[in-house]
Amino acid sequence: MTPSGAGQAAVGQPAASRPAAGPGAAARAALGSVLPTSWTEAGGRGRVGGVPLADLADRFGTPLVVVDERHLEERLAAFRAAFGPEADLTYAGKAFLCGALVRLLDREGWFVDVVSGGELELVRRAGFPMARVLLHGNAKSVAELTHAVELGVGRIVVDHPDEIGEIRRAARAGGAERPPAVMLRLNVDLAPDTHEKVRTVGPGAHFGMGTASAAAVAREVAGAEDIRLTGVHIHAGSQIRDPALFARVATAAVDFVAPLRDCFPDTVELDLGGGLAAPYRAGERVPSPRRYAEALRAGLDAARVRDRIGRHRLIVEPGRSVIANAGLTLYRVHARKRLDGADEILAVDGGLSDNPRPSLYGASYEVLNASRLRDGAERVFRVVGRHCESGDVVAPAAVLPGGSGVGDVLAVPATGAYVFAMSSRYNGVGRPAVVFVRDGAAREVVRRETDDDLLACDLALGVPEPAADGARPLTAAEARPSRER
Ligand code: LLP
Repeated sequence: MTPSGAGQAAVGQPAASRPAAGPGAAARAALGSVLPTSWTEAGGRGRVGGVPLADLADRFGTPLVVVDERHLEERLAAFRAAFGPEADLTYAGKAFLCGALVRLLDREGWFVDVVSGGELELVRRAGFPMARVLLHGNAKSVAELTHAVELGVGRIVVDHPDEIGEIRRAARAGGAERPPAVMLRLNVDLAPDTHEKVRTVGPGAHFGMGTASAAAVAREVAGAEDIRLTGVHIHAGSQIRDPALFARVATAAVDFVAPLRDCFPDTVELDLGGGLAAPYRAGERVPSPRRYAEALRAGLDAARVRDRIGRHRLIVEPGRSVIANAGLTLYRVHARKRLDGADEILAVDGGLSDNPRPSLYGASYEVLNASRLRDGAERVFRVVGRHCESGDVVAPAAVLPGGSGVGDVLAVPATGAYVFAMSSRYNGVGRPAVVFVRDGAAREVVRRETDDDLLACDLALGVPEPAADGARPLTAAEARPSRER
């Protein structure tokens, strides 16, 4: 199974031999499960947040990440309704992070989980309260740990025993106002049914500690004055569809804590990670936040959490299920061609560098022509990216209007999570811009990377070249990136 889940049409079969008919009205309706909630069609064009997507492409360029702000708010509210006010809802920033989102999370009373000094710095600069930040990471540097302690990050999730020493050293060095709070990350083999690359427990995974070593750490730090052990953490994996797995996660956390109850404070924090699946293909169904919460509670109850642990606080860390379907990516078609005996191809101006998921995990996506949702009989196109890799395929068999062609804007839904966050600058293509849309208005929240951004770290390019055969060397001012001039 791929992280994106559902299977996909056969690849490499000549388009002409497939029925030209498209998915039809019923299948188009099924697209509702992957599109942002504000998606509408008007005049044959797609809109999100009341804004025609083709207009967004004209105004902000492509590739472009578009986030439906209302959809996002509705998801945050759905998690709050499912978990109630007492749970600490912690957004997994690795799915997608930018200043505008962090401010929204702050307004809605969420916590944020970060996995690096860079993510921590983003959250800090957005003015997010450090007490509501949780630091993860299986290879945190001493500098990252020290900085987190100094900033007073609310929780540090300890991946391995050696981190304890570093955190205590930082705390004793006077970096912390109060002893840092830590949770122990457990690696319990729960056999999650998901793509091997996003499975984070079991013998093949390199995260967290086995229960014996975690128990030893718990006993070592219990009652210490320079560090506070507040609870445990388990994240079994991502794109999980089976609620029973969540129940097993909850039970495993209780089973670990119960025999060590004395090592923990009055209220034990049970951080049960993230992992709730998002739908990627039309008609795909995944558990709701309510079903997710019920499954976790069922697991806690099955383990008799009240008798064996007593007071506890639930923490969850959803990422993908919050943001994936709020976002879509727009591309412009730059070429239409047909190779002898092969598929009809539409080549777009992005791909691998703004979304590595198809190449990395075989993830599969829907594609719509946002410029003209209908134009002639539908046919199957291979939608490919612009990078020099045969694997740069956005969708191997997208069903699109037969008239689709150069200049059209294609929309790829369900690209809010792990897409912008995983983008690169491969082939010298800068990362895309991000716009938030709502109520007929768009605001750019991350600007597109320019060539100056791409080249800013290349030290040879910032230094004036020696004169070659009478050529005038660049002045220092000329050699500086143009945005600083
Ligand atoms: N907490 C921890 C400790 C995690 O490692 C993760 C994700 C989450 C929470 C959030 O999980 P979510 O709710 O988003 O499933 N790049 C991959 C996904 C990697 C997930 C990494 N950890 C992909 O594109 O599918």
